[in-house]
Amino acid sequence: MARKITIFDTTLRDGEQSPGANMDTTAKIQLGRQLARLNVDVIEAGFPISSPEDFDAVSRIAQEVKGPAIAGLARALPKDVERCWEAVKLSDKPRIHTFIGTSKVHVERRFKKTEAEVLQMAVDAVTLACSLCEDVEFSAEDAMRTRLEYLRDVVEATIAAGAKTINVPDTVGYATPWQIHDTIKYLFENVPNINDATISVHCHDDLGMSVANSLMSVRAGAGQVECTVNGLGERAGNASLEEIVMAIRTRADEFDAYTEIETTEIMNTSRMVSMLTGFVVQPNKAIVGANAFAHEAGIHQHGMIQDRHTYEIMLPEDVGLSDSVFTLGPRSGKHGLKKRLEDLGYEVPDDEMGEIYERFVAVADKKRQVFDADLHVIMRQATRVEASEIYHLEELKTETATGQDPTAEVTLTRNGETITKSASGNGPVNSIYQAISAATGVDVELYDYTIRSVTRGTDALGEVTVRVKSGDGETTGKAASVDVLEASALAYLNAINSLLLTARAHQAQGDEPEIDRHPL
Ligand code: KIV
Ligand code: ZN
Repeated sequence: MARKITIFDTTLRDGEQSPGANMDTTAKIQLGRQLARLNVDVIEAGFPISSPEDFDAVSRIAQEVKGPAIAGLARALPKDVERCWEAVKLSDKPRIHTFIGTSKVHVERRFKKTEAEVLQMAVDAVTLACSLCEDVEFSAEDAMRTRLEYLRDVVEATIAAGAKTINVPDTVGYATPWQIHDTIKYLFENVPNINDATISVHCHDDLGMSVANSLMSVRAGAGQVECTVNGLGERAGNASLEEIVMAIRTRADEFDAYTEIETTEIMNTSRMVSMLTGFVVQPNKAIVGANAFAHEAGIHQHGMIQDRHTYEIMLPEDVGLSDSVFTLGPRSGKHGLKKRLEDLGYEVPDDEMGEIYERFVAVADKKRQVFDADLHVIMRQATRVEASEIYHLEELKTETATGQDPTAEVTLTRNGETITKSASGNGPVNSIYQAISAATGVDVELYDYTIRSVTRGTDALGEVTVRVKSGDGETTGKAASVDVLEASALAYLNAINSLLLTARAHQAQGDEPEIDRHPL
């Protein structure tokens, strides 16, 4: 009989750890609700001890998002486990996910302990977690570089201590598909109490094998797969949820397994993640890339017209792509807008609808037809940008002429104070960025600038994404406008605001964050 595979989504925890992908609490709750619509089984909502904001986001998701289990991450330390429980305890289905590194390099170099001592820490953390919460998961971090017999002992001991799920992470994306298959098989054959827990895998994509590794683990008996939407995650990212789910569904004959994912919500979720994080999906990305279902070659089109199965192994509508283009215009009312936003996965409380409608009308007035992609941008602006402004752009003036250095003048406001600065640069965007740096006093290193049109047509919204660094901080800024210079200014200001807000939050804690925010 086909086995159900549990989908554990870690977009909000491991995905969000990706430098620059940070989301604020409002955005995280929005995404948490969409993940519930996608029907994932577990949402890992964050790492509660890492910062007060993470704690707050996990705790609010635990209370507000219904359906999936809500997990929080905790190192194998009593203070982490207790803090994690405080954050998840109000969920209908709370889970504590505790972990410790078990490979030689972690045990000896990072912790400077013996294998026996680390095993004891794992057992103690699981025992404490089980005294607080019914659903406990344990991860042997860097399992795929862990001595096999030791991994077996850790798995056996943590199951005996009460963990219901045991995760075998390939933390550094080192495993090959056949190696991870054999590791999972070895555990099934050598851990006497293995059937008292669900075996899970968590694969990173450093060698581009994370999805293959996850799928081979399923073949070997794993019952849970940890993954992220769009494969978001640090370095090369995590295994992509949509690829795993669609592979299991499309090749059910090979897996004898199924997931309960609502696949028609995949596109909505992918677009929401991309919008909220600023991480653009590459056009040729499997399942959710803009070209994933596009057949350009004439010979393919001919075949498709005769019978779509000639070149199509999945239907676009299965992942939520439809041919019908739904547009709204300047005359569309609030109800039409609200309904369309709901179809796209956004739940908008009535008291916030007024402001979103105003943003919508401003766009509709300029470009007459508002597409779904425009609505995603409007929602991103409403959930992220608005929530995180220190400096506000009041006015932007630019002057360019052939043969002359472009100049820009920006007027910003901060707490009622108005600051105007001008600058010239080697291009209009450069001059704007110089003026903004002068007005805010914040110097950042701009290391990526991209511009793309959100929809087709010369009146399309231009969306600018910048990635900036300042000291140890790194973030993404994003903005859209039919005026691309204005979008460029707003994206840069958005990034500066986000850096300032992070610095402010750390100051409010009184010192540097107690632990590195990106420890894994
Ligand atoms: O990659 C990793 O090992 C992790 C664990 C905490 C599961 O993210
Ligand atoms: Zn990870």
